[in-house]
Amino acid sequence: MNKLFVILFCFVFACVNAQQLKSPSKDIVVDFSLGDQGEPTYHITYKGKEVLKPSKMGVLLKDGNTLNKNFRILNVETSAFDENWTPVLGEEAVIRNHYNQMTMHLEQKESDQKMDIVFRVYDEGVAFRYEFPFENKAHYFIISDETTEFNLTGNHKTFWLPGDYDSQEYNYNETKFSEIDISKIDRNNGIALQSVESNYRVQTPLMLKSDNNLYLNIFEAAVTNYPVMHLDVDTANFTLASNLVPNAIGDKAYLRTPSTTPWRTFMVSDDARDIVGSKMILNLNEPNKIEDTSWIKPMKYIGIWWEMHVGIATWDYAGSQNAQNSLTKELLPSGKHGATTENTKRYIDFAAKHGFDGVLVEGWNVGWEDWFGNWKEDVFDFLTPYPDFDIEEVHRYAKSKGVKMIMHHETSGSVGNYERHLDRAMDLMKKYDYPAVKTGYVGRIIPRGEYHDGQAMVNHFNFVAERMADNQLMVNSHESTRPTGYHRTYPNYIAAEAARGNEFNAWSNGNLPSHETVLPFTRLLGGPMDYTPGIFEIKMSAYDPTKTEQVHTTLAKQLALYVTLYSPLQMAADLPENYEKHLDAFQFIKDVPLDWQISKYLEAEPGDYLTVVRKDKNSENWFLGAITDENPRKTEIPLDFLSPNKTYKATIYQDGKDAHWEKNPKSYTIKTETVTNKSKLKLTLATGGGTAISFMAIN
Ligand code: NOJ
Ligand code: CA
Repeated sequence: MNKLFVILFCFVFACVNAQQLKSPSKDIVVDFSLGDQGEPTYHITYKGKEVLKPSKMGVLLKDGNTLNKNFRILNVETSAFDENWTPVLGEEAVIRNHYNQMTMHLEQKESDQKMDIVFRVYDEGVAFRYEFPFENKAHYFIISDETTEFNLTGNHKTFWLPGDYDSQEYNYNETKFSEIDISKIDRNNGIALQSVESNYRVQTPLMLKSDNNLYLNIFEAAVTNYPVMHLDVDTANFTLASNLVPNAIGDKAYLRTPSTTPWRTFMVSDDARDIVGSKMILNLNEPNKIEDTSWIKPMKYIGIWWEMHVGIATWDYAGSQNAQNSLTKELLPSGKHGATTENTKRYIDFAAKHGFDGVLVEGWNVGWEDWFGNWKEDVFDFLTPYPDFDIEEVHRYAKSKGVKMIMHHETSGSVGNYERHLDRAMDLMKKYDYPAVKTGYVGRIIPRGEYHDGQAMVNHFNFVAERMADNQLMVNSHESTRPTGYHRTYPNYIAAEAARGNEFNAWSNGNLPSHETVLPFTRLLGGPMDYTPGIFEIKMSAYDPTKTEQVHTTLAKQLALYVTLYSPLQMAADLPENYEKHLDAFQFIKDVPLDWQISKYLEAEPGDYLTVVRKDKNSENWFLGAITDENPRKTEIPLDFLSPNKTYKATIYQDGKDAHWEKNPKSYTIKTETVTNKSKLKLTLATGGGTAISFMAIN
């Protein structure tokens, strides 16, 4: 580890009202200045071209203080930072954190109110945040708004999600910036718009591409004790303005000095691979706070899960009929309950046989009869199993087979209830040796008025990760806020969903064939996603001939997703019986590692295609994932990433000649070749298709 921290200049006392900072490569330049009214303003160029017009900055306080004008610059500090650090789990064994920093110490002219704006410029982009320094005594204050703007230079292509304060589970809309309009989106999307009052509000991360082929990305990092930033869109002027998610009474954030906002980020490159491979968001987070990390391990898992999504089993014990014994009023089993001891043992056997680490069981606990849409506060206690789930016996059996169980805590959005039960729920996990939990927050938040993306919920999600860390437990949250790199600080926050996952393909119009080519440029910049790939039985008509739903990829693309969608927690989401039918293709899921030495993005275009190769952290083996959208694709990949002087057995899992995500999704071929780093491979991807390759080092 080499660490270099140099203060280049300190305390430039001057009557300056402008200051400039460059990226280490010098390609990105940010200019800070104060406007005529003392308004903080920033401006960004990339390789000499303007990529962000002068844009205003600042926050407004509830007490009427407007921290976006009347400032003067007290002094400026600049420094450079270059450090290598080692993530516990990751896409890379070593990550370089290399940036130049500039702190603008500001003071308001008529009062002595101070605020700092700190800029960091990386080779892939600019980050800045507002800091509220401590002055003699702690001040409590309320942020009523943030006035950060992003003034774009043109009518860029934009990949956007509606600015729903409660959910990100949408398909991406790909339009010109001027055509952003939520009233025009496909409403048949599987979820009703929950909290979208404006047709002109979008979520971050927001991926854009300019007409002159620059890739831009607006996001945030290290969101702690602050709401999520959505963006208000002005389609006529190509501007975006921060829109902080309010709480039940309209306040945005309760803070106390000293404190900071999250980092606002603006990435730019003429090469899309720089964005998708960037570690900037992670780097902007605080280092790991967990001392002993030996218990944080990647997990490949299967689960009693997809059978509920495809409708052949139920989460609830009594089924939707809620059948009761007429005398005792006890619920009667529906015969379709998925989480039985017997079924769990079947999954444990399958996991043990194929070398999986874990088995997730959903629907094990009492409450599912009432879980959805009832606004009932205390649906679950996270402790009481259904009568047909013998938690003791499951524990004994899993242990005997060397398989770990993954706990499931669906909260139905009832957050106070979950926090009240959390300690006891964690005790139960420790007692029965569950190393990880999947949490869920389906529906509107209880208490009413709070949003998933508000400050209180951001704090809740981080609090759960921290409390779980105290107990050496890993967390995978669903329906949480989208991550912004907090897993650097709490690496037990191993994955999250926080985007539209594969499950939508089971019961809605599904995910567009381009969906997985956008996620790495958006959702995945903030952290690993539990997308739940690996569906082999693509068409739901296999379960019910009347069903028309289907996964919008080929089978081979489902394999490639294990490489293209990075996560140290990956599910093989399909049913064991479907894997038994395709054990040759299943071999890739068994072989693919979840923790990496090196990752290289070879080809990338948001919304179109992605090719990535990764080297296993613990061996010489490499893995390739290539995916395309609705367009078929041919490409040739030089294997120069492989180690010289080594020979590899490449097993190539690819679309069959007649494969097509809709017409013939299950057509695939598997072939093997002996290759070296001098070899090249031609890849042919079907419409909605993909290729997965394992390169096993022979010598
Ligand atoms: C939504 C989650 O994304 C899904 O994985 C889970 O099965 C259901 N909620 C029930 O908790
Ligand atoms: Ca979900």
